[in-house]
Amino acid sequence: MSELKNDRYLRALLKQPVDKTPIWIMRQAGRYLPEYRQVREKAGDFMTLCTTPELACEVTLQPLRRYDLDASIIFSDILTIPDAMGLGLHFITGEGPKFHKTVRSAADVANLSVPDMEDSLGYVMDAIRLTRREIDGKVPLIGFSGSPWTLACYMVEGSSSKDFAKIKAMMFDTPAVMHDLLSVLAKSVTAYLNAQIAAGAQALMLFDTWGGALSGPNYREFSLAYMQQIISGLTKENDGRRVPVTVFTKGGGQWLSHMAEVGADALGLDWTTDLSLARYQVGDKVALQGNMDPCVLYAQPERIKTEVKEILKAYGHGSGHVFNLGHGIHPTINPEHVAVLVDAVHAESIQYHQ
Ligand code: CP3
Repeated sequence: MSELKNDRYLRALLKQPVDKTPIWIMRQAGRYLPEYRQVREKAGDFMTLCTTPELACEVTLQPLRRYDLDASIIFSDILTIPDAMGLGLHFITGEGPKFHKTVRSAADVANLSVPDMEDSLGYVMDAIRLTRREIDGKVPLIGFSGSPWTLACYMVEGSSSKDFAKIKAMMFDTPAVMHDLLSVLAKSVTAYLNAQIAAGAQALMLFDTWGGALSGPNYREFSLAYMQQIISGLTKENDGRRVPVTVFTKGGGQWLSHMAEVGADALGLDWTTDLSLARYQVGDKVALQGNMDPCVLYAQPERIKTEVKEILKAYGHGSGHVFNLGHGIHPTINPEHVAVLVDAVHAESIQYHQ
């Protein structure tokens, strides 16, 4: 495997000195790029893109050709695990993900088991292996999974949800069933992420998109505890280098001191969290990723640069910051604005690393 030419992202996650603040963008391969839309149209549907390693590799590399990004993330989806558990994932245009089967009862949960990684999720590992080869050490490749709680939200609700009525009823009425579901998911996610490391993933991210829908105590019991279990079960090394883990709970800004204790190397922040306050709260325990409002990219270039400067200043001097948006990039963003963002982060951050 060729040597890593740009390790700024891995170094920042471990709070080692860097020359500039690294940047990557959540959903950097996606519909805002015309070249993505072209491949997506040819593939026909989204799952064909995910399950065809050549196509997944191609769209993973697309943003790296346009922008001076410091990391790539394997093109896939968090819902591959429930799909591999037999729930039947499909995407309806304009409506998002849907499952043929849902998980609503103790019997439904008892029917679930940890999927065989190479059998049912081998396409993800193939995509990782191929992408590592093609990327040729340009930047590190991030592997990822949804958190057990976030995966459970989709499995119980059957689709995206606004109020999480069904999963919360399960959590409050039958907590033991909820815990059984989260346990089998935590085991599955651990095996999935370890398989991704073995295939070549150089860093990992846990997307806890819906942890922020919970109360503090419920978050700790039903989401954070399972992420901790996963992190403690990870291999944590690849090519003799540590594989850093980032935990991102959208809406989790109030719980950073708890999150900093679960063994993650970094915490992802959405834009509602004050970055300087977050750094003060977590101290030296973890690095921080984030946290520009994705809508800033709708603004004009000068305004984007101003916002970049504000965020870099809020983090301040020293390593431990990975620049990113506070959530995924919107599909209607002008791709030229992304170049403005990436270049501004690199140019304006040098002063904080001298
Ligand atoms: O970041 C990347 O570039 C890597 C690829 C990636 C995708 N999904 C591709 C995708 C990653 C990391 C994800 C994670 C994901 N998927 C999350 C967690 C992160 C977050 O955004 O909170 C969640 C909740 C999902 C589930 C999911 N997948 C939804 C709700 C949707 C529909 C979204 C929409 O706006 O239509 C998807 C589909 C999806 N996953 C798309 C992409 C590029 C769009 C599908 C398309 O091309 O039509």
